Amino acid sequence: MKRKLNVKKLIIFIIVVLTIFYGSYKWVKDYIYSGSIEGKLTLKGYNEDDITFLIENLNDKEINKILEKKYNKNYVNFIKEKYFIFDNLEKYISYSEKNEELSFEKVVAIINTGANEEWYENIFDSNLSDEESMLVNKFYTLNTYSPEDLIEIDLYYAFDDVFIREIALESFESLCDAAKNNDITLVASLGYRSYQEQENTYSNYRSYFGTREADNTVARPGHSEHQTGLALEIEPYGVDYEDATKTKEYKWLIKNAYKYGFIQRYPEGKEDITGYEFEPWHYRYVGTDVSVKLYREKITYDEYYAYYLKGKENEQ
Ligand code: DAL
Repeated sequence: MKRKLNVKKLIIFIIVVLTIFYGSYKWVKDYIYSGSIEGKLTLKGYNEDDITFLIENLNDKEINKILEKKYNKNYVNFIKEKYFIFDNLEKYISYSEKNEELSFEKVVAIINTGANEEWYENIFDSNLSDEESMLVNKFYTLNTYSPEDLIEIDLYYAFDDVFIREIALESFESLCDAAKNNDITLVASLGYRSYQEQENTYSNYRSYFGTREADNTVARPGHSEHQTGLALEIEPYGVDYEDATKTKEYKWLIKNAYKYGFIQRYPEGKEDITGYEFEPWHYRYVGTDVSVKLYREKITYDEYYAYYLKGKENEQ
């Protein structure tokens, strides 16, 4: 009887010791874990996959900022976007909450380029030293800038009185020559347009169609790519068409212009980013490094500039 009681006590004693030991071990482990990044993110509500992704893709400073915010499942969704810029994270969230029908990709493009703002409200000066990379749009103005190396395009490649910057001339001629080898005759119908000419064009449109319609198709003075001397209307020669996109000239140009440093500047489906209606024949010279990237990534020059030039500059 006495022996039996001792065994029972011993078992109880062992169970108590083990429980205390296990409890302490677990408490210390949890304490250490909750101090780690993984632990902190778990406590915030992120799951294992999200945590792995966040740790692999954000730096310590950015993770700490995420930890300062309340859990939001869309943080991870936005961070997964290719053109995600960390400093814009809160803007993506609040814009997408107000525009639930938009994809994450579209929200990122709109916020990065500032297209969520009123057109022409906050205006910056274009960086003229960017040369063929200079950005001109509804937020960036050239003021009364005029390029110094304007040159008239030969009548073999253009209508009368069409000027382009010399840095883009050879590429344009090569583009037309390559087209010709494929039985496609292209011609530049419009090139450089001065501040003053743009002002006249814009005010004519506005008095005829009203401000809203004019703004959809014509840039306000100082905001036109034509003023850079790097933009051209490249059209088929002597071709009647109802739908530009159905012509063989359009199809060839859209597939090949990038090889010569030209990009279609106001593409279809990107009107909310560029602020202009689709312009099938409006091309802009940016050089082949940029044009190849844009062609492959299917983004507008506004998106490219916001992410690769301005976004990177802000990171430094
Ligand atoms: N049509 C283009 C947008 C311009 O006026 O520059």
